[in-house]
Amino acid sequence: MLRRPQIVLRPFHQTDTEFFTRLASDERVTRYVGDGQPWSQEFIHGRIRTALQQDPIKTVGASRWFLATEENTPVGIVVSTRKDDGIEIGYWVSPDHWGRGIAGVILDKALTTVPEIYGTRKLIARVDPANAASAKVLTRGGFQLEATREGLDYYTQA
Ligand SMILES: CC(C)(COP(=O)(O)OP(=O)(O)OC[C@H]1O[C@@H](n2cnc3c(N)ncnc32)[C@H](O)[C@@H]1OP(=O)(O)O)[C@@H](O)C(=O)NCCC(=O)NCCS
Repeated sequence: MLRRPQIVLRPFHQTDTEFFTRLASDERVTRYVGDGQPWSQEFIHGRIRTALQQDPIKTVGASRWFLATEENTPVGIVVSTRKDDGIEIGYWVSPDHWGRGIAGVILDKALTTVPEIYGTRKLIARVDPANAASAKVLTRGGFQLEATREGLDYYTQA
């Protein structure tokens, strides 16, 4: 069995822009995200600006991003945003590292960090029903499929 990846999660910084841009420009990564298309530079920078502006944590729309590193090398991203019905989380792993169980470790770490930051344990995730890898990660992490809304599967923590 493969060794469990040793992952560190830390807040996303402006200097992580290049890594994030690489992920968001990669059609393999965005296939099941938003409209499925790679993000434009303008869109990427707008999202990063919003993520870094650190809106008050109780405000709907406040977001906090995290960089996942393995031996000091970036391997993934966690995004979290306060919504009306809970804290929505998402995670992206660099395609070079897919299939190593990194997403599961990232989710485990996020399940500790994110509730501490927002002061609530109510986490939600919305996933394209065709994104089998992500569904597996969520189910293993203790999430349950609750409903399908507007074409996306809606998961909550069990
Ligand atoms: C979804 C994603 C985060 C998974 O990352 P990962 O680190 O490769 O995940 P894991 O290695 O933990 O694999 C998860 C499971 O899905 C399985 N899997 C991978 N690709 C699959 C596919 N296309 N169909 C079915 N299962 C798949 C893996 O085999 C693994 O199961 P196993 O442990 O039983 O073998 C990664 O593919 C990714 O970043 N995708 C792009 C962004 C995205 O869609 N994020 C999720 C939406 S928020």
